[in-house]
Amino acid sequence: MTASYTICNRLTIVVGFLWFALLGISLATPPSNEEIVEDERDYFEVLERSLLFYEAQRSGRLPKNNRIPWRGDSGLEDRGQNGEDLTGGYYDAGDFVKFGFTMASMTTLLAWGAVSWPQAYEAAGQLDELREAVKWATDYFIKCHVSEDVLYGQVGDFALDHRFWGRPEELNTSRPAFKIDSDHPGSDLAGETAAALAVTSILFRDSNASYSAECLRHAKELYHFANTRRGLYHEVIKGAAQYYESIDYGDELAWAAAWLFRATNESKYLEDAEHHYQHFHLKERPNEFYYNKKVAGVQVIMAQLTEQQEYQNAARAFCDFSVRDQKQTAKGLLYIDKFGTLCHAANVAFICLQAADYPAIGNSEEYRNFARDQIHYILGGTGRSYVVGWGLNPPKQAHHAAASCPDRPAPCGWAEFNRTTPNPQILHGALVSGPDEADRFLDFREDYIYTEVTLDYNAGFTSAVAGLAQLLINPPE
Ligand SMILES: *[C@@H]1O[C@H](CO)[C@@H](O)[C@H](O)[C@H]1NC(C)=O
Ligand SMILES: *[C@@H]1O[C@H](CO)[C@@H](O)[C@H](O)[C@H]1NC(C)=O
Ligand SMILES: *[C@@H]1O[C@H](CO)[C@@H](O)[C@H](O)[C@H]1NC(C)=O
Ligand SMILES: *[C@@H]1O[C@H](CO)[C@@H](O)[C@H](O)[C@H]1NC(C)=O
Repeated sequence: MTASYTICNRLTIVVGFLWFALLGISLATPPSNEEIVEDERDYFEVLERSLLFYEAQRSGRLPKNNRIPWRGDSGLEDRGQNGEDLTGGYYDAGDFVKFGFTMASMTTLLAWGAVSWPQAYEAAGQLDELREAVKWATDYFIKCHVSEDVLYGQVGDFALDHRFWGRPEELNTSRPAFKIDSDHPGSDLAGETAAALAVTSILFRDSNASYSAECLRHAKELYHFANTRRGLYHEVIKGAAQYYESIDYGDELAWAAAWLFRATNESKYLEDAEHHYQHFHLKERPNEFYYNKKVAGVQVIMAQLTEQQEYQNAARAFCDFSVRDQKQTAKGLLYIDKFGTLCHAANVAFICLQAADYPAIGNSEEYRNFARDQIHYILGGTGRSYVVGWGLNPPKQAHHAAASCPDRPAPCGWAEFNRTTPNPQILHGALVSGPDEADRFLDFREDYIYTEVTLDYNAGFTSAVAGLAQLLINPPE
Protein backbone atom coordinates (compact mmCIF):
# COMPACT_ATOMS: atom_id res chain seq x y z
CA MET A 1 0.00 0.00 0.00
CA THR A 2 2.62 2.46 1.11
CA ALA A 3 5.05 1.35 -1.62
CA SER A 4 2.57 1.57 -4.44
CA TYR A 5 1.35 4.88 -3.08
CA THR A 6 4.89 6.18 -3.23
CA ILE A 7 5.42 4.90 -6.79
CA CYS A 8 2.15 6.42 -7.83
CA ASN A 9 3.14 9.63 -6.20
CA ARG A 10 6.52 9.64 -7.95
CA LEU A 11 4.82 8.90 -11.26
CA THR A 12 2.47 11.80 -10.67
CA ILE A 13 5.43 14.04 -9.98
CA VAL A 14 7.28 12.85 -13.10
CA VAL A 15 4.21 13.13 -15.29
CA GLY A 16 3.45 16.48 -13.72
CA PHE A 17 6.98 17.64 -14.46
CA LEU A 18 6.76 16.50 -18.08
CA TRP A 19 3.42 18.25 -18.40
CA PHE A 20 4.88 21.46 -17.07
CA ALA A 21 7.88 21.14 -19.36
CA LEU A 22 5.54 20.67 -22.34
CA LEU A 23 3.41 23.57 -21.22
CA GLY A 24 6.54 25.66 -20.84
CA ILE A 25 7.61 24.83 -24.39
CA SER A 26 4.18 25.53 -25.82
CA LEU A 27 4.07 28.86 -24.00
CA ALA A 28 7.56 29.75 -25.16
CA THR A 29 6.92 29.11 -28.86
CA PRO A 30 3.88 30.93 -30.15
CA PRO A 31 2.11 29.36 -33.14
CA SER A 32 3.65 30.25 -36.48
CA ASN A 33 1.72 32.05 -39.21
CA GLU A 34 1.28 28.72 -41.00
CA GLU A 35 -0.17 27.12 -37.89
CA ILE A 36 -2.74 29.89 -37.44
CA VAL A 37 -3.81 30.08 -41.07
CA GLU A 38 -2.92 26.98 -43.03
CA ASP A 39 -4.39 28.18 -46.29
CA GLU A 40 -7.06 30.49 -47.69
CA ARG A 41 -9.84 28.26 -46.36
CA ASP A 42 -9.16 29.57 -42.86
CA TYR A 43 -9.71 33.12 -44.04
CA PHE A 44 -12.86 32.03 -45.87
CA GLU A 45 -14.19 30.55 -42.65
CA VAL A 46 -13.44 33.73 -40.73
CA LEU A 47 -15.27 35.76 -43.40
CA GLU A 48 -18.26 33.47 -43.11
CA ARG A 49 -18.30 33.77 -39.31
CA SER A 50 -17.90 37.55 -39.37
CA LEU A 51 -21.01 37.84 -41.50
CA LEU A 52 -22.87 35.66 -39.00
CA PHE A 53 -21.97 38.19 -36.32
CA TYR A 54 -23.78 40.97 -38.21
CA GLU A 55 -26.71 38.66 -38.73
CA ALA A 56 -26.98 38.15 -34.98
CA GLN A 57 -27.14 41.95 -34.55
CA ARG A 58 -30.16 42.39 -36.81
CA SER A 59 -33.13 44.37 -35.58
CA GLY A 60 -36.59 44.27 -37.15
CA ARG A 61 -38.49 41.51 -38.88
CA LEU A 62 -36.09 38.73 -39.81
CA PRO A 63 -36.31 37.00 -43.18
CA LYS A 64 -37.10 33.30 -43.45
CA ASN A 65 -33.48 32.47 -44.21
CA ASN A 66 -32.26 33.84 -40.85
CA ARG A 67 -29.32 31.64 -39.83
CA ILE A 68 -29.20 32.53 -36.13
CA PRO A 69 -31.54 30.07 -34.41
CA TRP A 70 -31.62 32.02 -31.14
CA ARG A 71 -32.70 35.27 -32.82
CA GLY A 72 -36.21 36.35 -33.85
CA ASP A 73 -38.15 39.50 -34.73
CA SER A 74 -37.52 42.49 -32.47
CA GLY A 75 -37.80 46.27 -32.35
CA LEU A 76 -40.98 46.10 -34.43
CA GLU A 77 -42.31 49.27 -32.78
CA ASP A 78 -39.30 51.42 -33.68
CA ARG A 79 -40.82 54.63 -35.03
CA GLY A 80 -39.79 58.16 -35.87
CA GLN A 81 -41.19 61.26 -34.20
CA ASN A 82 -44.02 61.37 -36.76
CA GLY A 83 -44.64 57.66 -36.75
CA GLU A 84 -42.20 56.84 -39.58
CA ASP A 85 -41.23 53.19 -39.86
CA LEU A 86 -37.69 52.86 -38.46
CA THR A 87 -37.66 49.10 -38.04
CA GLY A 88 -34.60 47.22 -39.23
CA GLY A 89 -30.93 48.06 -39.06
CA TYR A 90 -28.52 46.69 -36.51
CA TYR A 91 -28.13 46.80 -32.75
CA ASP A 92 -24.84 48.48 -32.03
CA ALA A 93 -23.26 46.12 -29.51
CA GLY A 94 -24.33 43.75 -26.75
CA ASP A 95 -27.12 46.22 -26.03
CA PHE A 96 -29.96 47.50 -28.19
CA VAL A 97 -29.49 51.09 -29.27
CA LYS A 98 -29.33 51.65 -33.02
CA PHE A 99 -26.60 54.25 -33.49
CA GLY A 100 -26.62 55.58 -37.06
CA PHE A 101 -23.09 56.98 -36.98
CA THR A 102 -21.26 53.75 -36.17
CA MET A 103 -23.67 51.67 -38.24
CA ALA A 104 -22.83 53.84 -41.25
CA SER A 105 -19.14 53.71 -40.58
CA MET A 106 -19.26 49.91 -40.34
CA THR A 107 -21.22 49.76 -43.59
CA THR A 108 -18.69 51.89 -45.46
CA LEU A 109 -15.79 49.73 -44.31
CA LEU A 110 -17.53 46.46 -45.06
CA ALA A 111 -18.63 47.58 -48.52
CA TRP A 112 -15.20 49.09 -49.29
CA GLY A 113 -13.55 45.75 -48.55
CA ALA A 114 -15.97 43.94 -50.85
CA VAL A 115 -15.64 46.49 -53.65
CA SER A 116 -11.85 46.11 -53.48
CA TRP A 117 -11.61 42.34 -53.07
CA PRO A 118 -14.81 40.75 -54.41
CA GLN A 119 -12.92 37.63 -55.50
CA ALA A 120 -12.15 36.82 -51.87
CA TYR A 121 -15.84 36.85 -50.98
CA GLU A 122 -16.72 34.99 -54.13
CA ALA A 123 -14.14 32.25 -53.48
CA ALA A 124 -15.40 32.01 -49.90
CA GLY A 125 -18.97 31.60 -51.20
CA GLN A 126 -19.91 34.70 -49.21
CA LEU A 127 -20.56 37.43 -51.76
CA ASP A 128 -24.35 37.20 -51.44
CA GLU A 129 -24.12 37.10 -47.64
CA LEU A 130 -21.83 40.13 -47.70
CA ARG A 131 -24.24 42.06 -49.91
CA GLU A 132 -27.13 41.12 -47.62
CA ALA A 133 -25.18 42.29 -44.57
CA VAL A 134 -24.54 45.66 -46.20
CA LYS A 135 -28.09 45.97 -47.51
CA TRP A 136 -29.57 45.30 -44.07
CA ALA A 137 -27.93 48.56 -43.01
CA THR A 138 -28.56 50.59 -46.18
CA ASP A 139 -32.26 49.61 -46.32
CA TYR A 140 -32.48 51.07 -42.83
CA PHE A 141 -30.58 54.27 -43.74
CA ILE A 142 -33.00 54.79 -46.61
CA LYS A 143 -35.90 54.54 -44.13
CA CYS A 144 -34.12 56.94 -41.77
CA HIS A 145 -33.65 59.50 -44.55
CA VAL A 146 -37.29 60.59 -44.43
CA SER A 147 -36.85 63.73 -46.51
CA GLU A 148 -33.96 65.55 -48.19
CA ASP A 149 -32.72 67.32 -45.08
CA VAL A 150 -34.00 64.99 -42.37
CA LEU A 151 -32.12 61.92 -41.19
CA TYR A 152 -32.85 59.81 -38.12
CA GLY A 153 -29.54 59.05 -36.43
CA GLN A 154 -30.49 57.06 -33.37
CA VAL A 155 -33.26 54.81 -32.08
CA GLY A 156 -33.22 53.92 -28.42
CA ASP A 157 -31.76 55.76 -25.47
CA PHE A 158 -28.67 54.52 -23.75
CA ALA A 159 -29.81 55.11 -20.16
CA LEU A 160 -33.22 53.53 -20.75
CA ASP A 161 -31.70 50.68 -22.70
CA HIS A 162 -29.21 49.84 -19.98
CA ARG A 163 -31.93 49.07 -17.48
CA PHE A 164 -32.62 45.99 -19.53
CA TRP A 165 -30.55 42.83 -19.91
CA GLY A 166 -32.05 40.02 -21.93
CA ARG A 167 -33.22 39.10 -25.40
CA PRO A 168 -33.98 41.80 -27.97
CA GLU A 169 -37.18 39.89 -28.73
CA GLU A 170 -38.29 40.70 -25.16
CA LEU A 171 -37.15 44.34 -25.04
CA ASN A 172 -39.57 46.29 -22.89
CA THR A 173 -37.92 49.73 -22.84
CA SER A 174 -39.34 52.71 -24.66
CA ARG A 175 -37.29 53.60 -27.71
CA PRO A 176 -37.24 57.28 -28.61
CA ALA A 177 -35.91 58.27 -32.05
CA PHE A 178 -33.54 61.19 -32.68
CA LYS A 179 -32.93 63.06 -35.92
CA ILE A 180 -30.91 65.80 -37.55
CA ASP A 181 -32.49 68.35 -39.89
CA SER A 182 -31.59 71.63 -41.58
CA ASP A 183 -31.98 73.66 -38.37
CA HIS A 184 -30.21 71.00 -36.29
CA PRO A 185 -27.57 69.64 -38.67
CA GLY A 186 -24.99 66.90 -38.33
CA SER A 187 -22.47 66.92 -41.19
CA ASP A 188 -20.56 63.99 -39.71
CA LEU A 189 -23.59 61.71 -39.48
CA ALA A 190 -25.08 62.76 -42.84
CA GLY A 191 -21.61 62.61 -44.45
CA GLU A 192 -20.81 59.14 -43.18
CA THR A 193 -24.26 57.88 -44.19
CA ALA A 194 -23.71 59.40 -47.65
CA ALA A 195 -20.34 57.63 -47.91
CA ALA A 196 -21.91 54.31 -46.88
CA LEU A 197 -24.65 54.66 -49.49
CA ALA A 198 -22.21 55.77 -52.21
CA VAL A 199 -19.91 52.78 -51.77
CA THR A 200 -22.95 50.51 -51.53
CA SER A 201 -24.16 51.86 -54.87
CA ILE A 202 -20.86 50.62 -56.34
CA LEU A 203 -21.23 47.26 -54.62
CA PHE A 204 -24.70 46.71 -56.14
CA ARG A 205 -24.03 48.17 -59.57
CA ASP A 206 -23.96 44.78 -61.31
CA SER A 207 -26.23 42.70 -59.08
CA ASN A 208 -29.11 45.16 -58.55
CA ALA A 209 -28.96 48.27 -60.73
CA SER A 210 -32.17 49.83 -59.42
CA TYR A 211 -31.03 49.46 -55.82
CA SER A 212 -27.65 50.86 -56.74
CA ALA A 213 -29.34 53.92 -58.25
CA GLU A 214 -31.55 54.34 -55.20
CA CYS A 215 -28.55 54.25 -52.86
CA LEU A 216 -26.75 56.79 -55.03
CA ARG A 217 -29.70 59.18 -55.02
CA HIS A 218 -29.84 59.11 -51.21
CA ALA A 219 -26.07 59.47 -51.00
CA LYS A 220 -26.13 62.61 -53.15
CA GLU A 221 -28.95 64.20 -51.16
CA LEU A 222 -27.31 63.38 -47.84
CA TYR A 223 -23.98 64.76 -48.96
CA HIS A 224 -25.67 67.95 -50.09
CA PHE A 225 -27.38 68.21 -46.70
CA ALA A 226 -24.10 67.50 -44.88
CA ASN A 227 -22.19 70.03 -46.92
CA THR A 228 -24.66 72.90 -46.90
CA ARG A 229 -25.87 72.63 -43.29
CA ARG A 230 -22.79 72.30 -41.15
CA GLY A 231 -22.75 70.99 -37.61
CA LEU A 232 -21.79 68.17 -35.25
CA TYR A 233 -24.46 65.52 -34.85
CA HIS A 234 -23.77 64.86 -31.19
CA GLU A 235 -24.71 68.47 -30.41
CA VAL A 236 -28.18 67.61 -31.72
CA ILE A 237 -28.47 63.98 -30.67
CA LYS A 238 -27.05 64.64 -27.24
CA GLY A 239 -27.32 61.08 -26.01
CA ALA A 240 -24.67 60.12 -28.54
CA ALA A 241 -22.06 62.52 -27.18
CA GLN A 242 -21.01 60.32 -24.30
CA TYR A 243 -20.65 57.17 -26.41
CA TYR A 244 -20.05 58.00 -30.03
CA GLU A 245 -18.84 61.56 -30.18
CA SER A 246 -17.57 62.50 -33.58
CA ILE A 247 -14.84 65.13 -32.78
CA ASP A 248 -15.14 66.91 -36.17
CA TYR A 249 -16.86 66.62 -39.54
CA GLY A 250 -14.23 67.67 -42.10
CA ASP A 251 -13.08 64.09 -42.59
CA GLU A 252 -16.64 62.83 -43.21
CA LEU A 253 -17.29 65.59 -45.75
CA ALA A 254 -14.12 64.72 -47.70
CA TRP A 255 -14.82 61.01 -47.31
CA ALA A 256 -18.38 61.33 -48.67
CA ALA A 257 -17.29 63.54 -51.58
CA ALA A 258 -14.46 61.13 -52.48
CA TRP A 259 -16.83 58.15 -52.43
CA LEU A 260 -19.38 60.04 -54.51
CA PHE A 261 -16.68 60.82 -57.05
CA ARG A 262 -15.75 57.16 -57.17
CA ALA A 263 -19.40 56.21 -57.62
CA THR A 264 -20.21 58.82 -60.30
CA ASN A 265 -17.01 60.19 -61.90
CA GLU A 266 -18.60 63.64 -61.59
CA SER A 267 -15.70 66.05 -61.24
CA LYS A 268 -17.55 68.38 -58.84
CA TYR A 269 -17.27 65.70 -56.14
CA LEU A 270 -13.53 65.40 -56.63
CA GLU A 271 -13.21 69.17 -56.46
CA ASP A 272 -15.22 69.15 -53.24
CA ALA A 273 -13.09 66.38 -51.76
CA GLU A 274 -9.91 68.29 -52.60
CA HIS A 275 -11.37 71.46 -51.16
CA HIS A 276 -12.39 69.75 -47.88
CA TYR A 277 -8.99 68.09 -47.68
CA GLN A 278 -7.22 71.47 -47.76
CA HIS A 279 -9.78 73.41 -45.79
CA PHE A 280 -9.91 70.93 -42.90
CA HIS A 281 -6.13 70.28 -42.88
CA LEU A 282 -6.53 66.58 -43.51
CA LYS A 283 -2.93 66.13 -44.62
CA GLU A 284 -1.62 65.95 -41.06
CA ARG A 285 -0.68 62.42 -40.12
CA PRO A 286 -3.31 60.76 -37.93
CA ASN A 287 -2.48 58.14 -35.29
CA GLU A 288 -5.42 55.88 -35.95
CA PHE A 289 -8.29 55.03 -38.23
CA TYR A 290 -11.51 54.90 -36.27
CA TYR A 291 -15.25 55.49 -36.64
CA ASN A 292 -14.74 59.14 -35.69
CA LYS A 293 -11.33 59.61 -37.35
CA LYS A 294 -11.49 58.78 -41.06
CA VAL A 295 -8.52 60.94 -42.14
CA ALA A 296 -6.23 58.00 -42.96
CA GLY A 297 -9.01 56.51 -45.09
CA VAL A 298 -9.49 59.82 -46.89
CA GLN A 299 -5.75 60.01 -47.61
CA VAL A 300 -5.65 56.49 -49.04
CA ILE A 301 -8.75 56.84 -51.18
CA MET A 302 -7.62 60.21 -52.50
CA ALA A 303 -4.24 58.66 -53.35
CA GLN A 304 -6.05 55.84 -55.18
CA LEU A 305 -8.41 58.20 -57.03
CA THR A 306 -6.02 60.96 -58.05
CA GLU A 307 -2.58 59.32 -58.10
CA GLN A 308 -1.27 62.66 -56.86
CA GLN A 309 1.86 62.77 -54.77
CA GLU A 310 0.41 64.88 -52.02
CA TYR A 311 -2.08 62.14 -51.11
CA GLN A 312 0.40 59.33 -51.73
CA ASN A 313 2.85 60.99 -49.34
CA ALA A 314 0.17 61.36 -46.68
CA ALA A 315 -0.95 57.74 -46.98
CA ARG A 316 2.69 56.58 -46.87
CA ALA A 317 3.36 58.68 -43.76
CA PHE A 318 0.43 57.02 -41.98
CA CYS A 319 1.36 53.45 -42.89
CA ASP A 320 5.10 53.91 -42.36
CA PHE A 321 4.41 55.38 -38.94
CA SER A 322 1.92 52.64 -38.03
CA VAL A 323 4.17 49.82 -39.18
CA ARG A 324 7.48 51.14 -37.87
CA ASP A 325 6.92 53.59 -35.03
CA GLN A 326 3.47 53.12 -33.50
CA LYS A 327 3.47 51.49 -30.09
CA GLN A 328 3.17 47.69 -30.00
CA THR A 329 2.67 45.26 -27.15
CA ALA A 330 5.47 42.83 -26.24
CA LYS A 331 3.78 40.20 -28.41
CA GLY A 332 3.47 42.49 -31.41
CA LEU A 333 -0.05 43.91 -31.33
CA LEU A 334 -0.40 47.50 -32.49
CA TYR A 335 -1.49 49.34 -29.38
CA ILE A 336 -3.55 52.50 -29.81
CA ASP A 337 -6.22 52.38 -27.13
CA LYS A 338 -7.45 50.08 -24.40
CA PHE A 339 -11.00 50.22 -25.81
CA GLY A 340 -11.19 48.26 -29.02
CA THR A 341 -7.50 47.33 -29.03
CA LEU A 342 -8.05 44.74 -31.75
CA CYS A 343 -10.38 46.94 -33.78
CA HIS A 344 -7.72 49.64 -33.89
CA ALA A 345 -5.07 47.18 -35.03
CA ALA A 346 -7.36 45.60 -37.64
CA ASN A 347 -8.45 49.01 -38.98
CA VAL A 348 -4.84 50.02 -39.56
CA ALA A 349 -4.17 46.62 -41.16
CA PHE A 350 -7.11 47.23 -43.50
CA ILE A 351 -6.02 50.75 -44.48
CA CYS A 352 -2.45 49.60 -45.14
CA LEU A 353 -3.68 46.63 -47.21
CA GLN A 354 -5.57 49.20 -49.26
CA ALA A 355 -2.41 51.29 -49.56
CA ALA A 356 -0.42 48.19 -50.55
CA ASP A 357 -2.59 47.68 -53.63
CA TYR A 358 -1.13 50.97 -54.97
CA PRO A 359 2.65 50.47 -55.02
CA ALA A 360 3.21 54.20 -55.63
CA ILE A 361 2.10 54.80 -52.03
CA GLY A 362 4.81 52.86 -50.22
CA ASN A 363 6.43 49.53 -49.45
CA SER A 364 3.57 47.17 -50.29
CA GLU A 365 5.31 44.07 -49.01
CA GLU A 366 6.09 45.66 -45.67
CA TYR A 367 2.47 46.82 -45.29
CA ARG A 368 1.11 43.39 -46.19
CA ASN A 369 3.40 41.56 -43.78
CA PHE A 370 2.39 43.95 -41.05
CA ALA A 371 -1.32 43.46 -41.79
CA ARG A 372 -0.88 39.69 -41.76
CA ASP A 373 0.93 39.81 -38.41
CA GLN A 374 -1.83 41.91 -36.84
CA ILE A 375 -4.64 39.72 -38.15
CA HIS A 376 -2.78 36.56 -37.14
CA TYR A 377 -2.32 37.92 -33.63
CA ILE A 378 -6.12 38.19 -33.54
CA LEU A 379 -6.66 34.72 -34.99
CA GLY A 380 -4.42 32.90 -32.53
CA GLY A 381 -0.88 34.27 -32.55
CA THR A 382 -0.61 34.35 -28.77
CA GLY A 383 -2.20 30.93 -28.33
CA ARG A 384 -5.77 32.11 -28.33
CA SER A 385 -8.26 33.37 -30.88
CA TYR A 386 -10.14 36.61 -30.27
CA VAL A 387 -12.94 35.70 -32.67
CA VAL A 388 -15.92 34.13 -30.91
CA GLY A 389 -16.57 30.57 -32.09
CA TRP A 390 -13.42 30.32 -34.21
CA GLY A 391 -9.98 28.83 -33.70
CA LEU A 392 -8.05 27.94 -30.59
CA ASN A 393 -9.52 28.91 -27.23
CA PRO A 394 -11.85 31.68 -28.43
CA PRO A 395 -13.60 34.08 -26.00
CA LYS A 396 -16.56 32.51 -24.23
CA GLN A 397 -18.10 35.44 -22.39
CA ALA A 398 -18.57 38.18 -24.97
CA HIS A 399 -20.39 41.11 -23.35
CA HIS A 400 -23.61 40.48 -25.25
CA ALA A 401 -27.06 40.29 -23.70
CA ALA A 402 -28.77 38.08 -26.30
CA ALA A 403 -25.91 35.55 -26.38
CA SER A 404 -25.94 35.34 -22.58
CA CYS A 405 -29.52 34.00 -22.63
CA PRO A 406 -30.36 30.30 -22.51
CA ASP A 407 -32.64 28.82 -25.16
CA ARG A 408 -36.22 30.01 -25.04
CA PRO A 409 -38.53 29.74 -23.22
CA ALA A 410 -36.20 29.85 -20.19
CA PRO A 411 -36.27 33.34 -18.69
CA CYS A 412 -33.37 35.72 -19.24
CA GLY A 413 -32.41 38.83 -17.26
CA TRP A 414 -29.79 40.28 -14.93
CA ALA A 415 -29.08 36.88 -13.40
CA GLU A 416 -27.60 35.90 -16.79
CA PHE A 417 -25.46 39.02 -16.80
CA ASN A 418 -24.10 37.99 -13.40
CA ARG A 419 -23.19 34.43 -14.33
CA THR A 420 -19.52 33.61 -14.75
CA THR A 421 -20.14 30.69 -17.09
CA PRO A 422 -19.77 30.76 -20.92
CA ASN A 423 -22.53 32.36 -22.98
CA PRO A 424 -25.09 29.66 -23.82
CA GLN A 425 -25.32 31.04 -27.39
CA ILE A 426 -22.22 31.29 -29.53
CA LEU A 427 -21.95 34.70 -31.12
CA HIS A 428 -20.02 33.40 -34.12
CA GLY A 429 -17.58 35.77 -35.72
CA ALA A 430 -17.66 38.56 -33.13
CA LEU A 431 -14.30 40.22 -32.54
CA VAL A 432 -13.95 41.21 -28.89
CA SER A 433 -12.41 44.48 -27.73
CA GLY A 434 -9.26 42.52 -26.91
CA PRO A 435 -6.24 42.35 -24.65
CA ASP A 436 -4.63 45.18 -22.73
CA GLU A 437 -1.22 46.74 -23.13
CA ALA A 438 0.36 43.70 -21.45
CA ASP A 439 -1.26 41.24 -23.90
CA ARG A 440 -3.52 40.18 -21.03
CA PHE A 441 -7.15 39.25 -21.67
CA LEU A 442 -9.88 38.66 -19.09
CA ASP A 443 -12.73 36.64 -20.51
CA PHE A 444 -15.47 37.97 -18.24
CA ARG A 445 -18.83 39.23 -19.46
CA GLU A 446 -18.85 42.19 -17.10
CA ASP A 447 -15.30 43.27 -18.08
CA TYR A 448 -16.43 44.94 -21.27
CA ILE A 449 -13.08 46.66 -21.73
CA TYR A 450 -11.95 43.18 -22.79
CA THR A 451 -15.10 41.43 -23.99
CA GLU A 452 -17.24 44.15 -25.61
CA VAL A 453 -18.35 43.46 -29.18
CA THR A 454 -19.69 46.12 -31.56
CA LEU A 455 -20.56 46.59 -35.22
CA ASP A 456 -17.64 48.88 -35.84
CA TYR A 457 -15.15 46.70 -33.94
CA ASN A 458 -15.74 43.98 -36.54
CA ALA A 459 -15.87 45.86 -39.83
CA GLY A 460 -12.22 46.75 -40.51
CA PHE A 461 -11.29 43.26 -39.34
CA THR A 462 -13.68 41.56 -41.76
CA SER A 463 -12.38 43.67 -44.63
CA ALA A 464 -8.73 43.09 -43.71
CA VAL A 465 -9.33 39.33 -43.71
CA ALA A 466 -10.88 39.69 -47.19
CA GLY A 467 -7.74 41.55 -48.30
CA LEU A 468 -5.45 38.80 -46.97
CA ALA A 469 -7.59 36.09 -48.58
CA GLN A 470 -7.39 37.94 -51.88
CA LEU A 471 -3.57 37.93 -51.66
CA LEU A 472 -3.56 34.15 -51.27
CA ILE A 473 -5.97 33.37 -54.11
CA ASN A 474 -4.61 36.04 -56.42
CA PRO A 475 -0.99 36.68 -55.38
CA PRO A 476 0.64 39.93 -56.50
CA GLU A 477 3.46 39.55 -59.04
C1 LIG B 1 -33.08 44.93 -55.71
O1 LIG B 1 -33.37 45.65 -54.51
C2 LIG B 1 -34.72 45.92 -54.32
C3 LIG B 1 -34.85 46.88 -53.14
O2 LIG B 1 -34.50 46.28 -51.95
C4 LIG B 1 -35.47 44.62 -54.11
O3 LIG B 1 -36.84 44.86 -53.92
C5 LIG B 1 -35.25 43.74 -55.33
O4 LIG B 1 -35.83 42.47 -55.11
C6 LIG B 1 -33.77 43.58 -55.63
N1 LIG B 1 -33.58 42.89 -56.88
C7 LIG B 1 -32.78 41.84 -57.00
C8 LIG B 1 -32.64 41.31 -58.39
O5 LIG B 1 -32.17 41.36 -56.06
C1 LIG C 1 -15.43 56.07 -63.85
O1 LIG C 1 -14.21 56.06 -64.58
C2 LIG C 1 -13.46 54.87 -64.44
C3 LIG C 1 -12.13 55.06 -65.14
O2 LIG C 1 -12.29 55.62 -66.39
C4 LIG C 1 -14.28 53.69 -64.95
O3 LIG C 1 -13.56 52.50 -64.76
C5 LIG C 1 -15.60 53.61 -64.18
O4 LIG C 1 -16.40 52.59 -64.70
C6 LIG C 1 -16.33 54.94 -64.27
N1 LIG C 1 -17.49 54.88 -63.40
C7 LIG C 1 -18.67 55.37 -63.73
C8 LIG C 1 -19.75 55.29 -62.72
O5 LIG C 1 -18.89 55.89 -64.81
C1 LIG D 1 -38.43 44.67 -18.30
O1 LIG D 1 -37.66 43.50 -18.23
C2 LIG D 1 -36.77 43.43 -17.14
C3 LIG D 1 -35.95 42.16 -17.29
O2 LIG D 1 -34.82 42.41 -18.05
C4 LIG D 1 -37.55 43.46 -15.83
O3 LIG D 1 -36.66 43.47 -14.76
C5 LIG D 1 -38.43 44.70 -15.82
O4 LIG D 1 -39.26 44.66 -14.70
C6 LIG D 1 -39.29 44.81 -17.06
N1 LIG D 1 -39.97 46.09 -17.07
C7 LIG D 1 -41.25 46.23 -17.45
C8 LIG D 1 -41.76 47.63 -17.44
O5 LIG D 1 -41.93 45.30 -17.77
C1 LIG E 1 -26.21 40.62 -9.83
O1 LIG E 1 -25.08 41.02 -9.06
C2 LIG E 1 -25.25 42.25 -8.38
C3 LIG E 1 -23.96 42.65 -7.73
O2 LIG E 1 -22.98 41.68 -7.79
C4 LIG E 1 -26.38 42.11 -7.37
O3 LIG E 1 -26.57 43.34 -6.71
C5 LIG E 1 -27.64 41.72 -8.10
O4 LIG E 1 -28.67 41.47 -7.17
C6 LIG E 1 -27.43 40.45 -8.94
N1 LIG E 1 -28.65 40.27 -9.73
C7 LIG E 1 -29.18 39.07 -9.95
C8 LIG E 1 -30.50 39.05 -10.65
O5 LIG E 1 -28.63 38.04 -9.64
